[in-house]
Amino acid sequence: MRSHHEHFRCGLVTGASAGIGAEFARQLAPFCETLVLTARRRERLVSLAEDLAEQHPDLTIHVHGADLAKDGDVDDLLKVLAKQKLIPDLVVNNAGLGDYGEFLSAEWPRIEAMLSVNVRALTRLTHALLPAMAETGGGAVLNVSSIAGDFPIPDFAVYAATKAYVTSFSEALRIEARPLGIRVMALCPGPVKTEFGDVARRDPATVVPGQGDRLLQVSKEAVVAEALAALAVGKARHYPGWKVAVSAALIGLLPIALLRFFLGCRPHRR
Ligand SMILES: NC(=O)c1ccc[n+]([C@@H]2O[C@H](COP(=O)([O-])OP(=O)(O)OC[C@H]3O[C@@H](n4cnc5c(N)ncnc54)[C@H](OP(=O)(O)O)[C@@H]3O)[C@@H](O)[C@H]2O)c1
Repeated sequence: MRSHHEHFRCGLVTGASAGIGAEFARQLAPFCETLVLTARRRERLVSLAEDLAEQHPDLTIHVHGADLAKDGDVDDLLKVLAKQKLIPDLVVNNAGLGDYGEFLSAEWPRIEAMLSVNVRALTRLTHALLPAMAETGGGAVLNVSSIAGDFPIPDFAVYAATKAYVTSFSEALRIEARPLGIRVMALCPGPVKTEFGDVARRDPATVVPGQGDRLLQVSKEAVVAEALAALAVGKARHYPGWKVAVSAALIGLLPIALLRFFLGCRPHRR
């Protein structure tokens, strides 16, 4: 896929302290006037911002520590943006987490965090920012979903359901937002080597499906490069890596009864 050369006035990236989010910040830096980076680990954001500032002296970077599982922190982030008159023309809703294991033995705080970060914060930020974006000439919302949103996954039930929400929400919002000059895209990666697996693992011995899977794995650099190129051409949904894209297409063709049969076998689990 061709590289993107789109310029943005102000890009907001959630979950920019690690993995795919930090990579978005790196690849967007040459093409943004201002970047707003947020996550809980503020010190990581500060060190990323220092690196980027050195490489891109014209770039203005704002760093904001926030726990997106907390409504108050989301409100504070929105207040800071309003106060500093920062109206993003690119919102990358990337922050997210998984929890791998049976639903019955899951800890409620983890389930709640997934619902709050993957679904609630993403929806709230989009809802709060869209009107000002529309008034100031439009822009783009890039929601980081997952191929896991395309089918139910036993032992990853809540995570897959949150990503089904993200993909569905993005597809519908895309149609509503088009007349406002706002593009909406769902990015649906397969396995990517980041901290995601370590976070999703309940104990260190657990193997999170896909995380060690060399066949389908795509680097975070390639995921982000493909995502920005896909956004630039107005794609609705993008599966980075051709093997992941083919897998998604095949899964989409499976009759639900057959899918249920495969899912009933359950992925390897300890
Ligand atoms: N890696 C994969 O295989 C894969 C595949 C498909 C989709 N995805 C999706 O890609 C996105 C990025 O994940 P990743 O792979 O880059 O994982 P990662 O390395 O674990 O990064 C997750 C990011 O989300 C932030 N985050 C988590 N909980 C948060 C909270 N309560 N408040 C604010 N920020 C929070 C983290 O920052 P702090 O911890 O500093 O808060 C971190 O910056 C997620 O939405 C994930 O579901 C990942």
